[in-house]
Order: sequence, then structure tokens, then C-alpha cells
Amino acid sequence: MNDLDRLVRPNIAALTPYSTARDEYTGGLGTFLDANESPYDSGFNRYPDPHQKQLKTQIAALKGIDPQNLFLGNGSDEAIDLLFRVFCEPGRDEAVAITPSYGMYSVAAAINNVTLREVPLGPEFSLPTEALLAATAEPRCKLLFLCSPNNPTGNAFPRAELLQLAESFAGITVVDEAYIDFAAEPGLRDALPEHPRLVILQTLSKAWGMAGLRLGLAMADARIIRLMSMVKYPYNINEAALRTVSELLRRPIGEQVREILRERARVAAALPALPCVERVYPSDANFLLVRVTNADGVYEHLVRAGIIVRNRNRVCQCAGCLRLTIGLPAENDRLLTALADYAC
Ligand SMILES: Cc1ncc(COP(=O)(O)O)c(C=O)c1O
Repeated sequence: MNDLDRLVRPNIAALTPYSTARDEYTGGLGTFLDANESPYDSGFNRYPDPHQKQLKTQIAALKGIDPQNLFLGNGSDEAIDLLFRVFCEPGRDEAVAITPSYGMYSVAAAINNVTLREVPLGPEFSLPTEALLAATAEPRCKLLFLCSPNNPTGNAFPRAELLQLAESFAGITVVDEAYIDFAAEPGLRDALPEHPRLVILQTLSKAWGMAGLRLGLAMADARIIRLMSMVKYPYNINEAALRTVSELLRRPIGEQVREILRERARVAAALPALPCVERVYPSDANFLLVRVTNADGVYEHLVRAGIIVRNRNRVCQCAGCLRLTIGLPAENDRLLTALADYAC
């Protein structure tokens, strides 16, 4: 039994996935009377490609990987849920995540009836490597969720520490790189060939500006990708998304990303001068975590000014903190002006 066979739920290993009408026909153009679709052209009367061959080829080329190492999901949230469904036996297996981090790891765990053990970050939001190794030592622990750059703390973890964890943990290490396009260092993609139990998540919702289209990526060993593809809904990416994403990927986003980075530096430099700001944490993402004198009060003040930020006051290790997304220069100016107006 190889590593992966030991980790996959037996019912998933034995699964015969749904075979779509078009899977059984491999020719080109034909008279399609197989899928009970409408024959009248609406632009969308045909089912989309369940294997997303064209978009996968396009994204794989962009990422410098083989399409067989790429899974496309309805947001990275779909990939997170699928990893639980592929690897964790409900009510029996467990997973580990850092805290504070992205909220969907614990929601997906709860939906799948999987116990998620959350390990607090170390000083200055550092990776608690030893505590994570201890928490994942249990054989029932199948998944480890790491997020780098981390949401909501904004910091990226050292590559060597992430890879050491992926190597030492006998289960599947998931590194969520949703914000990697804003980070100073590149992600772990090039390390995939030497780490067969590593899954990297990315998304088109952030730097690529396609949150409304819902397109998330998982990159991993081809066997993991095959398992996730077997379990997903056959048509998880709709035709409108397939076409629009393909089109929008052709536009360059480098200048937008550079402007967000310039604005992040400008806002981070301006904030400490404001009376309500106590601390601005370093960020490798498109947001800043900021500790203020009275998080709930500042949050309400901003809402009254028509500015919505994320209040993280009640999140572990983030007492007193707001998470501020970097917007357009004029939006950031509005935020700074409103914060300066807050009477401490
Ligand atoms: C760390 C992290 N991962 C994933 C997501 C969600 O990505 P998607 O829009 O692809 O579901 C977010 C969204 O805020 C996030 O912060």
C-alpha cells in the first residue's frame, strides 16, 4: 500500500465516478442527442466540459505545471471541502490548522463532521512548527492546513519551515497561497515534484480580480488531482466562467498588483501617525492587519462614514485588530481621512 492509498477514504478509493454523456464520445463535432440538452442555441445550451481541458491547459501554462497536476474548483473553497471529503472519514479522522487563519478550514471541517485541532501561531505570528508536528502526530490526522501569506495576519511563513512540515507530516499538507501574488517571495509550486503529499491552493479571486467568477486552483501530485476530480460535481465550473476566465487571463495584471503594493506601503506608512492606530503589522498580502485603540468603536465609526472593513477584534491573537483591504488610491485616502477623524 503506498502513502496515498493509506490516506484516502476507502469509499472514495473504490468510487466509480459519474460518467457524463460526453465522456463516452471522443470524436469531434457531431449531432449531440445524448445529454437531453435543448437543441436551440442560447450560447449556453450545451453542458460545459467537465474536465475543463482548454482552461486547464491555459492556466497550467501560466503556472508552469502539467495540466494533470491542476484541479479547478468553484473557488478554492470547493477544493478545501473536497480535500475533507476525499481524505477524512466523518466522525473519525481529524485535521489540524493554524489559528488565526482563514475561516473556511473550520467551517468545512464542521460540515464534514471532522474534528479540526487549531494550533495558535507563535510570537509575532510565527509558524508554531513543533506544536504543529505534535498535533499532527496522531495517525487519524489526515490534513494540515497552512496559509501563507496568512489571512488575517498578512505574513508569509519561511519556505523552509513550510516544506519541513510538508515533509515531516505523514498526511496531506495544504498550503493556501490565495495572496501569493502580493508576496515578496514566490510560492512553493516548484517544490511540488519532491513533495507528493503537498497541495497548494491558489485563487483568481484576489490579484486576478475574478472573485465574482469563482475559480480556485489546487496544484498537487496527479493522483491527488484525480481523486479530487472524481469527487467534484461533474460540471463544477460553468460555461460562462470557463469563457470569461479564459478571456480575462489574457490581460496583464502586473501593473495593478504593483499599484496595490505601492498603496499598501503608502497606507502602512501613513497609519502609525493616526491617534487611533497602535500597531500596523507587516503584510505580504493585499490587506493590512492594524491594532487600534478601540476596534469596535473604530469599526462603527468607519461604517458611519460608509467604509466597510473587517473587524477581527474577537479573533484569537487579533484582539483590537481591524483588517483593511488595500483599495484604489482614492478609497485608501477616504479610509485614512475617516480614521484621522476618529476621536480616541
Ligand atoms: C486564505 C484564503 N483562501 C481562500 C479564500 C477564498 O478563495 P475563493 O474565492 O477562491 O474561494 C480566501 C478568501 O478570502 C482566503 O482568504
